[in-house]
Amino acid sequence: MSNLLGLLRRGLNRPDKIPRYLWGLLVPSDRWGPEWRRRDDLVLFEPGGFAASARTRAEFASNLFHEVTGLWTICDDHLEETPTRSLEVGCGYGRLTPWIAMRSERHVAVEPDRRALERAVVQYGRTDGDPTGGTVTAGDVNVAFARGRAESLPVPDDAFDLVVTWTVLQHVPPERIGEAVSELRRVLAPGGLVVCCERVRPPADDHIWPRSLETYAELFEPLECVDDRRRSVEPTWSDAMSTDRPAERVLAFREG
Ligand SMILES: C[S@@+](CC[C@H](N)C(=O)[O-])C[C@H]1O[C@@H](n2cnc3c(N)ncnc32)[C@H](O)[C@@H]1O
Repeated sequence: MSNLLGLLRRGLNRPDKIPRYLWGLLVPSDRWGPEWRRRDDLVLFEPGGFAASARTRAEFASNLFHEVTGLWTICDDHLEETPTRSLEVGCGYGRLTPWIAMRSERHVAVEPDRRALERAVVQYGRTDGDPTGGTVTAGDVNVAFARGRAESLPVPDDAFDLVVTWTVLQHVPPERIGEAVSELRRVLAPGGLVVCCERVRPPADDHIWPRSLETYAELFEPLECVDDRRRSVEPTWSDAMSTDRPAERVLAFREG
């Protein structure tokens, strides 16, 4: 009881600090979701926003499991060997970063949002004095974080066997998606694989531009779309969504 009173008092003093689960009791679940803000011409993702879209910690943990296994399955189906060099574009605060890095000899994670990137660095190691980038070694995970965006990637040509965008291209507006995709093609090594989990059908909103599979296939030409499968999500996903089919698909592209 005193805990509850304490929570209420804290909430009245600092509404921004009211724990999310308490909001969850007051706000219908279809209003929950990640938080976004726009800065310049970028749609940025609040650190913590993605975690908040799951209604419980159990859902968040389960969703991470399903997303990671979904990503690994598609990679296993198309890559004969462990990637030596992988690139993650739009890593956010690094939710998927260590999981990709574990399977790669050298992983680079790029993110335009300084706050999200700083958070990722805090989670996965320390950099030598540079809070927004640097090489981090945590256990067997070897990651270099870098600030950058899909439209101008701070990495050389033909450098990666695996390039991943996980709910990132959907946030790139129509006038810049061509540049972003040609950058992904530029940095992909010959024979490499691009894996994208992106929204391919409505709903659209002010920070998401869904694009059909055909549109992505055209954008990635001359690479070929070699896979198109359902986004793997946790079993109660549909409870909080307006439809039981995730609007995102996982697509894979490589040289024909
Ligand atoms: C939905 S979050 C996904 C983060 C991470 N991939 C994950 O699955 O947890 C989308 C991320 O894309 C980043 N982003 C937005 N526009 C971008 C751009 N033009 N280039 C690269 N990343 C971008 C955002 O800052 C955000 O971190």
